[in-house]
Amino acid sequence: MRKLLATGVLALPLLAAPAAVFPALAEAGHGPKLLDTRFSFEGPFGTIDRAAAQRGFQIYKEVCAACHAMSLMSYRNLMDLGLSEAAVKGIAAEVQVEDVNDVGEKIERPGKPSDRFKKPFPNDAAAAAANGGAAPPDLSLIIKARPNGARYVFSLLQGYVDFDSLTDQQKAEFGLAKDYKLEEGKHFNIYFQPGEQGYKIGMAKPLSDGQVNYVDGSKNDLPSMARDVVTFLAWASEPHMEARKRTGVRVVLFLLIFAGMMYAVKRKIWADAH
Ligand code: HEC
Repeated sequence: MRKLLATGVLALPLLAAPAAVFPALAEAGHGPKLLDTRFSFEGPFGTIDRAAAQRGFQIYKEVCAACHAMSLMSYRNLMDLGLSEAAVKGIAAEVQVEDVNDVGEKIERPGKPSDRFKKPFPNDAAAAAANGGAAPPDLSLIIKARPNGARYVFSLLQGYVDFDSLTDQQKAEFGLAKDYKLEEGKHFNIYFQPGEQGYKIGMAKPLSDGQVNYVDGSKNDLPSMARDVVTFLAWASEPHMEARKRTGVRVVLFLLIFAGMMYAVKRKIWADAH
């Protein structure tokens, strides 16, 4: 029975993995291994590197926001990353948002901190039409929506390969079908939906070395930028992660102390029982 329970518990994460959303990577042994790295927010004590996340927001704003919405985020949430209220007001005011005025007429006004991040397209159909049929997904929860999300997006951003420069042997190593063709508007990415007809992503390589000049003068090669934008997206996917971990640590500490006390009580009560 205990064995059965243990296998049940071990199998739980497997059942919970969103295999249907992204079957190719969830299957062991398919596609290249994700790039190895460590993020500040990993592990039971990990926290979000605020400076990295702020740089990541700059990348989102200057690059990704042209195509990807983050509809669960409001500008004022950025204050959690250490931006001042004045800075957040400034960032929000850079966009024009639709609203109605006092007499019910449609107007455009500068954004306020309480506004949600401005969407690049009015709806999914328009987003797909502008991107060759593949709508850019909302990035609010993307790190949670993919297995091993942080490492996956980190790898994906660095996973572009010039298809025409691949040798036949390399194509064979990827397991591509004989009649494999990369259609117009698709790009070859070694981490995207591997398979005989796979690796085709509708997003052109969004980031290259030195593309964004950081206000804080940090390193802006591709791996550094990928790490920064993933840190920002990880924070957005789970803004209360740090509080959750703190609670966990407190609970474990409490249980340890409580167990010690109970042990002492037990020894005292049973001391004379021989
Ligand atoms: C020119 C438009 C464009 C820009 C700019 C862009 N993307 Fe995309 N992105 C897309 C499209 C289109 C897709 C959908 C691709 C598909 O499903 O084939 C996509 C998909 C994605 C995905 C999901 C991949 C998956 O597993 O489904 C992630 C993650 C992503 N983009 C991250 C980013 C990040 C981070 C940036 C900024 C550095 C960025 N994108 C910039 C158009 C863009």
